[in-house]
Amino acid sequence: MNKTILITGGAGFIGSHVVRLFVNKYPDYQIINLDKLTYAGNLENLSDVDKKPNYTFVKGDIVDAAFIEGLFTKYQFDGIIHLAAESHVDRSITDPMAFINTNVLGTVHLLNAAKEQWKGNFEGKRFYHISTDEVYGALGDTGFFTEETSYDPKSPYSASKASSDHFVRAYKNTYKLPIVVSNCSNNYGPNQFPEKLLPLAINNIKNKKPIPIYGKGENIRDWLYVEDHASAIDLIYHKAANGKTYNIGGHNEWTNIALIKLLCKVMDKKLGCEAGESEKLITYVTDRAGHDLRYAIDASLIEKELGWKPSLTFEIGLEKTVDWYLDHQEWMDRIVSGAYTDYYTKMYHNR
Ligand code: NAD
Ligand code: TYD
Repeated sequence: MNKTILITGGAGFIGSHVVRLFVNKYPDYQIINLDKLTYAGNLENLSDVDKKPNYTFVKGDIVDAAFIEGLFTKYQFDGIIHLAAESHVDRSITDPMAFINTNVLGTVHLLNAAKEQWKGNFEGKRFYHISTDEVYGALGDTGFFTEETSYDPKSPYSASKASSDHFVRAYKNTYKLPIVVSNCSNNYGPNQFPEKLLPLAINNIKNKKPIPIYGKGENIRDWLYVEDHASAIDLIYHKAANGKTYNIGGHNEWTNIALIKLLCKVMDKKLGCEAGESEKLITYVTDRAGHDLRYAIDASLIEKELGWKPSLTFEIGLEKTVDWYLDHQEWMDRIVSGAYTDYYTKMYHNR
């Protein structure tokens, strides 16, 4: 059966990997990528798939309810995979309203549009909301987030994502909307906007600029290669029972400082520098306000029920990631110069 699937936020980091996977793996599906192209949206991430017959890009804002209604009427979606979000914790500290608008209001507009379009006829329909482990708050030195962990978000970003998760589940409870949710740990890999730790550090090391480490660098994150997240999303979209939540993580915890020291070693080798050269760039800076100490995911449910597990060790994933950024210097330069925003005008002006 042909399916028409809306992927929101497909020009962003994770969304672009999900769009690529679905467009290539499911030629019978029509994939509609809806993205506002904020600073974080970069259509150059999808230049390899944007001419495929089963792919359509639509520029638009999920906060615009009338536009969303019209889009649902036009395409009659079978499924929604919702990734569009404001995603950077530091930005949420300076501008929380942008997070409330996109992450909360935008999500509710999509839920309303799906409810209106499907009108209680949910056969073959699915609303898949992509969320984060940050909704669970912060862990101490031990323990893991499971699907049963109570929500305790601590930043404006995680509070907005937690709120959207609650709305998605409320629409299941109230209107029987067929939803699934997943909460994933920190992703790394190609195409990540260089405001996030790893691409920022890779770019700074390449340019011999300081690597800013917040506080003492003792905060811990659980890192997952972005294509492994995309493969989990594919599995959950197709195989999860309605109403389910799955946690997704890499069993791969690193303090920020240990992670950056490992990255420095890899960069020394790749750049042909003397051992220890890149580490000299590490610079401790003022800590993030309310900086969550530790995130760590227990991913045993998705492993047991859906047979998913990460495909890469971190050492291999990190090396692949460094290679990608070094091989795509032009991608990075166009972000730094702002030129990446021209792509839409160039490619889509007459469509
Ligand atoms: P990103 O910031 O790279 O991409 C977000 C995309 O959403 C961009 O293309 C942006 O243009 C688009 N967008 C933003 N506001 C929009 C709006 N109002 N209307 C339409 N499009 C809009 O983010 P990402 O890192 O790829 O994260 C994608 C999703 O995955 C988010 O929901 C995030 O909360 C979640 N997530 C991210 C991580 C991570 O480590 N990056 C981990 C777990 C979950
Ligand atoms: P980030 O990539 O922003 O993801 P998140 O805050 O969603 O986990 O940051 C990862 C970790 O790295 C987090 O503990 C904050 C820290 N960090 C730095 O130490 N320096 C930086 O320049 C950045 C961007 C992050």
